[in-house]
Amino acid sequence: MTNAPSTHADTIPVERLTAAQAKAELTRLAAEIETHNQSYYAKDAPTVSDAEYDALRIRNEAIEARFPDLVRPDSPSLKVGATPSVGFSKVRHTVPMLSLDNAFDREDVEAFFARVRKFLGLAADADVDVVGEPKIDGLSIALRYEKGKFVKGATRGDGVEGEDVTANLKTLKDVPATLKGKVPAVLEVRGEIYMARSDFMKLNKSREKAGEPLFANPRNSAAGSLRQLDPKITASRPLCFFAYALGERSPNADIGKTHWDFLQHLTAWGFHVNPKATICHGPEDALAFHKAIGTERALLDYDIDGVVYKVNRFDWQEELGMVSRAPRWAIAHKFPAEQAQTVLEKITIQVGRTGVLTPVANLKPITVGGVVVSRATLHNEDYIAEKDIHEGDTVVIQRAGDVIPQVVSVVAAKRPKGSKSFHMPDKCPACGSLAVREEGEAARRCTGGLICPAQRAERLRHFVSRNAFDIEGLGWERLALFVDKDLIKGPADIFTLEKRDGKEAEPLKDWEGWGEKSADNLFSAINARRHISFDRFIYALGIHQVGEATAKLLARTYGTLEAWREAMIAAGKERKAAPDETKKPEKVGPAYAALCEISGIGMNMADDIVAFFAERHNLQALDALQRAGVEPEKTEVPKVAADSPFIGKTVVFTGALKTLTRQGAKEQAEALGAKVTDSVSKKTDYVVVGTDAGSKADKAQQLGVKILSEEEWLELAGKG
Ligand code: IVH
Repeated sequence: MTNAPSTHADTIPVERLTAAQAKAELTRLAAEIETHNQSYYAKDAPTVSDAEYDALRIRNEAIEARFPDLVRPDSPSLKVGATPSVGFSKVRHTVPMLSLDNAFDREDVEAFFARVRKFLGLAADADVDVVGEPKIDGLSIALRYEKGKFVKGATRGDGVEGEDVTANLKTLKDVPATLKGKVPAVLEVRGEIYMARSDFMKLNKSREKAGEPLFANPRNSAAGSLRQLDPKITASRPLCFFAYALGERSPNADIGKTHWDFLQHLTAWGFHVNPKATICHGPEDALAFHKAIGTERALLDYDIDGVVYKVNRFDWQEELGMVSRAPRWAIAHKFPAEQAQTVLEKITIQVGRTGVLTPVANLKPITVGGVVVSRATLHNEDYIAEKDIHEGDTVVIQRAGDVIPQVVSVVAAKRPKGSKSFHMPDKCPACGSLAVREEGEAARRCTGGLICPAQRAERLRHFVSRNAFDIEGLGWERLALFVDKDLIKGPADIFTLEKRDGKEAEPLKDWEGWGEKSADNLFSAINARRHISFDRFIYALGIHQVGEATAKLLARTYGTLEAWREAMIAAGKERKAAPDETKKPEKVGPAYAALCEISGIGMNMADDIVAFFAERHNLQALDALQRAGVEPEKTEVPKVAADSPFIGKTVVFTGALKTLTRQGAKEQAEALGAKVTDSVSKKTDYVVVGTDAGSKADKAQQLGVKILSEEEWLELAGKG
């Protein structure tokens, strides 16, 4: 079966999703989360655990953070609770709601000023005043006033068309119902709706108490609160508004001559204008403003993700106009990823599907870049050692790329007394098997693949795959059914299914979509596989690094499972006594050396094979297979005739051979007791040359190594 779950977008890590996969995933998640919402809120009957539900929401958030353009209008991140049965009506923006270009560093900011001057035909050092304002991380909104009365409020939507949220906006203190003073007949004020960090924390705390799902950050919380069909709910949420821009207005409206004047008008009319707004005279001033706000950022009670510079003079703004939906007269100067300090309470270990142990930092929850963070990956033990991370440490964390938080450093001065370095466990926390780390690898890996619950699904999938047991009618999808119902926990359980049928669950024939015939067919397909070639059996075990070719070589070398097992246990004992030898297998011992003699098996792979047999749980799994009647067939071990002229000789094949494949020739030579290498040296005994042999044949001639034609080789090998 080719329909393996790992090819489904829902199992792909967020960092690796393509845009198309991300789009499909967001669609799936929106539907799935909505189904759960309906059960939870509307029917008051949750269908999944809180943790599973949270995992879906977190994945949705993470994908949206990576692909902000793909956020769906019905995204679960924008609402909490069931979708309203009727949506909001649409509002067309008479003046489009623009977005802003971004600047990230000094050069970008200088380039912005240079562009503005050039476009206006000013000298390169001419004064250009801008107003600097904090860039609020909320959602933009347009408020329409007619004769000073609030008549309509709309979300930005796609910039051209938004949603009518007038009724909800009327509940906000910061949205004046009537404006003060002399007001233009038509006035559309734009700005940002946001939720203060302290209010967001309070709201989440009470939601937690009530057992309701939590909002991920203040921005989502504000958006979710505004998009409520029942204005009473919005009214109960502490939403705020900063005014900062102008939309439609009546001709000849008095709004001042500069943006700064306009901000004063806004204040006079009764709006909140951000008190940090400042006039900056040119790029140096602007950069100083960015720096000052950056320093203050953590102390502000609302999230900001940068500052915005706006050319102050309106006549210049008009001349500059816009380009591709962003004004030429403004730019957003973003902040780098936000960092925060918190306590690393505990390091726990996660076991992945392939057995890799990943240490995870469990943090005292903290808001970083607007998101509550309580966990961060620590990658592997080297990372922990390099940064000298201890449990109990105060650590600096950061959200880079804004998806997975990272531990950047440890605050050494805050380390508690008596704290100890962290050591990775040498046992897998999921199954108790030995977890080993190989030479040259950063990861520590569980060796109990056959029984480890964390790896169960992946291992079983491999076990029944096409080049392994390949049981007809038992592809991954069907196997997953049995795994889900806990009827198959390890490979041996496949072979006891029939015996147990009907005892632990309904008989298979009564399952939906089955029936007597398909159940019988499956059981006979399983029975037919009790006898299987030894190399397939070896491959099916899924030992790290052991692919089909190696499995074949192992089968040909050891012949039977018993002989192999005995030899590997002996090799393991030798290895345990000489753990530090990294170069010479002979120094480890004869059984270990014999394993490394097999072409293609180096010490690294030998260690993986030996580790498999060193794990008691794996031996138990092999015993269980045997008890269940699985018997790998014996593989003929080619006997090397005592009179073989090639015993202990080194042979090189070069050029195209007529009757043999390269692999076939190699196997033939090895069966005769020869060692096959790739390059010619003084130690080479024979070079077998086919047609178009190149430099290797020349070199053999120079070194005086015996050269054989293909025919001569076959003759000597007794195959001619
Ligand atoms: S001015 C034509 N000023 O940033 C200019 N935008 O990336 C319109 N924002 O959609 C925007 N604080 O939601 C402006 N002080 C501020 C802002 C601000 C936050 C948001 C706004 C806009 C987005 C553009």
